[in-house]
Amino acid sequence: MASNSRNHFSSKFGFIMAAAGSAIGLGNIWGFPTQTANNGGAVFLIIYLLMVFLLAFPILVAELTIGRYAQSNPIRSLKKISPKWKISWIAIISIVAVSLILSFYAIIAGWLIGYFISNGVKLLGMNNTANWLTTFSIARNLMLMIIFMLLTMLVVRNGIANGIEKCSTYLMPLLLVLFIIMTIYIFTQSGAKEGLKMYLIPDFSHLSFNLAISAMGQAFFSLSLGVCTMMVYGSYLKKDTNLPTIAAQVAIFDTAIAFIAGLLILPAMFVAQNNGVQIFSESGKLLHSDTLVFKVLPNLFNTMGTSGLVISSIFFLLMIIATLTSSISMLEVPVSCAIEELNQSRSIAVTWISVIIITISSIIIWNFNELFSFFVQLTTVYMQPIIGLFIALISGWLWNRNKVLQELKKGYANIQESFFWKIWPIYIKIICPIFMLLIFFH
Ligand code: PFF
Repeated sequence: MASNSRNHFSSKFGFIMAAAGSAIGLGNIWGFPTQTANNGGAVFLIIYLLMVFLLAFPILVAELTIGRYAQSNPIRSLKKISPKWKISWIAIISIVAVSLILSFYAIIAGWLIGYFISNGVKLLGMNNTANWLTTFSIARNLMLMIIFMLLTMLVVRNGIANGIEKCSTYLMPLLLVLFIIMTIYIFTQSGAKEGLKMYLIPDFSHLSFNLAISAMGQAFFSLSLGVCTMMVYGSYLKKDTNLPTIAAQVAIFDTAIAFIAGLLILPAMFVAQNNGVQIFSESGKLLHSDTLVFKVLPNLFNTMGTSGLVISSIFFLLMIIATLTSSISMLEVPVSCAIEELNQSRSIAVTWISVIIITISSIIIWNFNELFSFFVQLTTVYMQPIIGLFIALISGWLWNRNKVLQELKKGYANIQESFFWKIWPIYIKIICPIFMLLIFFH
């Protein structure tokens, strides 16, 4: 397919919803609150905010700009940036990383579907089925993962404007409304204040390099960086878009949702404790931090009677929306490469790539204890920040500064006089890489 016949986002609003949809996911609603609860509350929040705006945001601008400049898939985009240095292998590694992320993400998303359906099934009195849907088993995991992947395929098959953009434009505002309803409800419950205190009062004894590494990984995961997702979305952007502004809007939206998720989840934990659910061990460590969403919260909903069923349905629906708008962005990375590099139709590319991802996901399900955390660690702690570092180095050192300026100018004519342009080039070239290397090697 020639690059000038590529799909585009039809509006800026649609792009922001899609990019924020990619960014907002399990990372915000589960990862961020859990990490905050485990790492000294507001201390983690402060370091996280620094990481988002000092490290992740400049790299987000770089990814979007590379994609928009090349108007092509990541393999070809990186070739175009630097024909001399063979850097398109970085795109290949990103494809591997994003496919692995989707493989484990789809398993968790399947569980969310299971919990959501189990509420309706319970109302029908089919308690055994509800139990099956919420109990760990290979058959359940496989079935629900495949259902989630089919949903993802359905959206991505329809392309950018009709698939990804449309889906995100409807679902993201719904997500926001459901979120606000949930948070207000939790605030009215007794015990919520304790959670708020823990969230908003910093405990500086937790400050450490490890905390900085966790916050950096969290920021990269949350903004979907280091796996070329944002590069691909950038390649579907029209030339008149102001990239630094739109990147800032996406970063602020993503961070706001993470912050609100903290306002929801931490108080909810203490409401659960108030209702008799044990959430801390004797030593004060958070119990079940890895299964917060699937143990603590369902236990909380169970203590709430019928209204618990409604609240639980709202909660799991909003989680499913958040994961779906993220998974479609992940699948789009290999799909965009297959369409343009292998000259395939979108539906063929979506099908065979999804079959591979479902296969990897099934292997993880069969060897859950050995593989699940391993893949999570490998991709989110190592691959995403390291590829992010390479993207910073490529934009700073290999890409001709004048070409970057010309590209950014297309949507921001006076950029040369802006504060952004005074800082960003040197920042992405020197400060970001040094900062990241320091954190890594410490
Ligand atoms: N940003 C998503 C989240 O916070 O859950 C996860 C994610 C989406 C990671 C897309 C990577 C990606 F390419």
